[in-house]
Amino acid sequence: MDGNGRWAQRRQLARTAGHTEGEENLARLVRVARTRNVGWLTVFGFSTENWVRPRTEVRHILGLHRKLFGRVSELNELNVRVQWVGRPFDSPDARTPKHVQRAIHKAIADTSANTGMVLTVAFDYGSRAEIVHAARAAAAAGVVDADALWEHMYLPELPPVDVVVRTSGEHRVSNFMLWQSAGAEVFFTERPWPDFDGDELDAAVALVRG
Ligand code: IPE
Ligand code: MG
Repeated sequence: MDGNGRWAQRRQLARTAGHTEGEENLARLVRVARTRNVGWLTVFGFSTENWVRPRTEVRHILGLHRKLFGRVSELNELNVRVQWVGRPFDSPDARTPKHVQRAIHKAIADTSANTGMVLTVAFDYGSRAEIVHAARAAAAAGVVDADALWEHMYLPELPPVDVVVRTSGEHRVSNFMLWQSAGAEVFFTERPWPDFDGDELDAAVALVRG
């Protein structure tokens, strides 16, 4: 969900205002995605590389994730099940603070019966770390092949990615779902994340639905 900072700068607002708007836009987009019968929506909320940002910005983004995972009644109304993907909380280099961990656990539990769409939020996520994790687990179990790696990804239930969306005029893959998106289409847009709307989603989905 790239481009929050630039969205804010263009309006002479603080970067944090852009993140706030980005979180609001995700709530809007989840609603739209349901009307388009999207089965799986996975968003990159915060990467393993993002911790080096200024402390106040990180703190603001953490608060927004707590807010996002707190949108349980909205998600239940929309029949959306929440998931999280990232460095396991008990791994030595994991950085997700306890208060966000609690919000994540609660959102997953309180939306677990929903069947309409799976919204997966990547937080403290990095694809290389995930692949290393999967490779180690597969090796420990004695079989290292593609099926075994799939089974040992952080969230094995995630299907292969159909389309990767990159917002804000960037053309990088940025350590996101590298294993899962090996066969994906890629949709690029100049729009910053807060302006990514239903028309944009339709254009991205059209790459795979025709
Ligand atoms: C994306 O917006 C939000 C996170 C990475 C958490 P940016 O903060 O990267 O916005 P730009 O790239 O500076 O516009
Ligand atoms: Mg950025």
